[in-house]
Amino acid sequence: MCTPVLVNAQTVPNPTVRDTVFDIQQRFLEQFTTEELQSMTPDQVLDNISTEERHILGTDFVRFTVNVPVVVSVIRDPWPVEQFWLSDLGFQKTNLTAQIRYETEWDVWQAEFPAGEVGLGVNGIIDGGSNGSIESYAIAVAPVNPADTLEISGLYHPSYGIDRVALDQPAWADESSRYFVSLPDELRGQQSVQLLRARRNDGQLINFSKITQYPSSVDPDQIVLTLGEDSSRSAVVQWRTSDQESAGKVVFQEKNRFTGFDAGDDYLSASSEGPVLIDSPRGDIMGEYETLDDYPGGLLDLRPEPGNDPVVHRHIVPLRDLKPATSYVYAVGNGEDGGWSAPQEFTTEAADPEAFSFLYMGDVQHGFEEWEPLARRAHRYTPNARFIVMTGDMVNRGPERDNWDAFFHASEGVYSEQPLVPVLGNHEYNGVEPTLYLNQFMLPENGPEGMVERLYSYQYGDAFFAVIDGSLKGEDELARQAAWLDQQLAQADTTWKFVAIHQPIYGSRPTQDEPELREAFLPVLDRHGVDVMLQGHTHAYLRTQPMKGGEVVPEGEGTVYLVANSGTKFYEVGGFKEKYGAEPAVMIGDLATYQVFDIDGDELRYRSYDVNGDVVDSFSLEKAASDPDQPGEEPVPEADGDSGGGAWGWPVLLAFGLLLLARRGART
Ligand SMILES: [Fe+2]
Ligand SMILES: [Fe+2]
Repeated sequence: MCTPVLVNAQTVPNPTVRDTVFDIQQRFLEQFTTEELQSMTPDQVLDNISTEERHILGTDFVRFTVNVPVVVSVIRDPWPVEQFWLSDLGFQKTNLTAQIRYETEWDVWQAEFPAGEVGLGVNGIIDGGSNGSIESYAIAVAPVNPADTLEISGLYHPSYGIDRVALDQPAWADESSRYFVSLPDELRGQQSVQLLRARRNDGQLINFSKITQYPSSVDPDQIVLTLGEDSSRSAVVQWRTSDQESAGKVVFQEKNRFTGFDAGDDYLSASSEGPVLIDSPRGDIMGEYETLDDYPGGLLDLRPEPGNDPVVHRHIVPLRDLKPATSYVYAVGNGEDGGWSAPQEFTTEAADPEAFSFLYMGDVQHGFEEWEPLARRAHRYTPNARFIVMTGDMVNRGPERDNWDAFFHASEGVYSEQPLVPVLGNHEYNGVEPTLYLNQFMLPENGPEGMVERLYSYQYGDAFFAVIDGSLKGEDELARQAAWLDQQLAQADTTWKFVAIHQPIYGSRPTQDEPELREAFLPVLDRHGVDVMLQGHTHAYLRTQPMKGGEVVPEGEGTVYLVANSGTKFYEVGGFKEKYGAEPAVMIGDLATYQVFDIDGDELRYRSYDVNGDVVDSFSLEKAASDPDQPGEEPVPEADGDSGGGAWGWPVLLAFGLLLLARRGART
């Protein structure tokens, strides 16, 4: 017996499972509270979807046409909640088991289907766990009558595959490393319909939404300063509110004239041109894919916005015509009396270069609560630092706003007083365009075309800073970055030159290297005598000896490459000499630090502190050969008896630093 149609044409379900699931998710978000969504049971989900939706979820996830009656075997991860459609379609559990590599023994369920179209449902509606640990089912198909020759056609989805069920054959179309390692004789040699492992959570209707722990309100939060076009005269203030608040106003006054921001007080103000709407970057994540069904990633990736606070406003207000070397007090709000945030302070750059300090920190990425004490210590004990360079991976999943909410919450009050100088890390991208990052920060717009705000440069005092993007590593992208950096450094006539990048030119992890970045940037860094390279990404602490042309050179003749990590994710250190042919000056694993640079004329002083304020590394550089190391005045924080490194004099600190360095060095 033959079916009349044996062509390979697929009929794409309309609506597709993905469209349907997305619509249900949308409806649930409106219908239920966060708590209800998180505690919903599978039965409650089924009670709240229509018969038609249940039919689509239960039969349209995979469809194919068979020319003869068949037995379909569903080989499933034996998690306790069975796919609801198994019983709808008459599947029975057998006593057969099969095993896929890395997995336990799985159950085999079977049902017979007449010749014609077969449709099976989603992998599950329950929460697959944060690591998606509930695996996709696998399918074997055999003719009911062994004498029949089975032909499978019209397979939907087009990315699914058809293969043979055999040991060492992959169970899914997108995961060649997951193959059958144990099979009952009965299934061997049958045809397999291979689903996509990437789609295993497509039906998830419980815990499907990101939830931010820090939802917005009409009151401003996440107040952050970034650098303006000229730090002696400008600064940029940005903050968040809910989308219920559209007005954004900054009130400010010189600190020594400040009386308050109430009616009758004397202060200045500036307003935003309108809020920046931060909503679902789904469109950005979709990239060139037009329909949900075409999108190759998981459906859950398309819900990056927090379900409990999906849309927020960011207010961005540049302050201009400020006075150089002046401390300002400011507050943000909507312009209504009494609606101001707590006052914040910052200080503008001097008109003529003078000594200043800045902070540098590496990856945070996750564990924001553990990071918070380090961030707060750095801020508290380095009150005179004029900005904080963060060399990327500030968050783990850059397109997801709940990550940023946690980052900003842990640093509330820090970047509102010391401008954030962000560097794009690979986790700010996390596989897609860093749209959220670009939308939420206003950064200097002097980068090359198409890379504006990803690359930028600024001068502060007698130092020049360039930020580049190690994730843009196409040949053409690297050439354009290098050309821009070359031209920027050529124009910089400062005593000191710094370049910041996330992925290191020289790194600390044995299994990680970025030779293409070295190839692109090393000649430029060498040519212009960049003093220090600020890097991240390898989750450890590293300071190289001065390097030039790939070799160690005497101090003052090369670039010192630093890697730092401020969070609690650590990678193994080692393999430096094997990779780069030189010993590092210092390389320490399992260490979270913040770094302070003091730039004082021809002298650069540097310390790296751990969360207890202990100095773990230090060095100094001098441009002029004239004076021996003249200790300067160390910034003094409010004394509270704590062992904050900032409270110590420079010589003590240096000596202790060297001592510690020797001790730590022995360990690595
Ligand atoms: Fe990274
Ligand atoms: Fe990282």
